Amino acid sequence: MKKVLMVCLGNICRSPLAEAILQSKVDSKEVLVDSAGTAAYHIGNLPDKRSIEVAEKYGLNINNQRARKFVEADFDEFDFIYAMDKSNYNNILLLAKNADDKQKVKLILNEISQDNHSVPDPYYGGDQGFENVYNMLDKACTVIANKL
Ligand code: 4NP
Repeated sequence: MKKVLMVCLGNICRSPLAEAILQSKVDSKEVLVDSAGTAAYHIGNLPDKRSIEVAEKYGLNINNQRARKFVEADFDEFDFIYAMDKSNYNNILLLAKNADDKQKVKLILNEISQDNHSVPDPYYGGDQGFENVYNMLDKACTVIANKL
């Protein structure tokens, strides 16, 4: 079983979408996808209503997800760790114990183009932000699914 972890700040907007999108593109007997946040603000909460809505629009149900915080032990549990933005990336790396841990961490949009783009944080924006995030993540997850 390959294990992939999607990480953003709150684990309520971007990474829940990334989790569901990638899981929908792979065989669940072969690949497990989870998500987490680098911040503790929303632990135990459902995804943001706007993420739930855009997921539903594309046929994905994310109501089963609850936010959790990224922990050091995630480096042992997961093979691939995808950060949504540079700040998440840096905060994940601060918890890495060794070079093997560090190697697991990538910016998710570098799967599409190698120029260190971030998935914009849609939390304070409008619904168009969520649609935009969904489309970016869908493209990146197609590439990831094909490589797994
Ligand atoms: P996410 O978005 O990192 O994509 O889940 C955010 C969610 C909550 C906050 C910021 C970003 N917040 O400041 O509470």
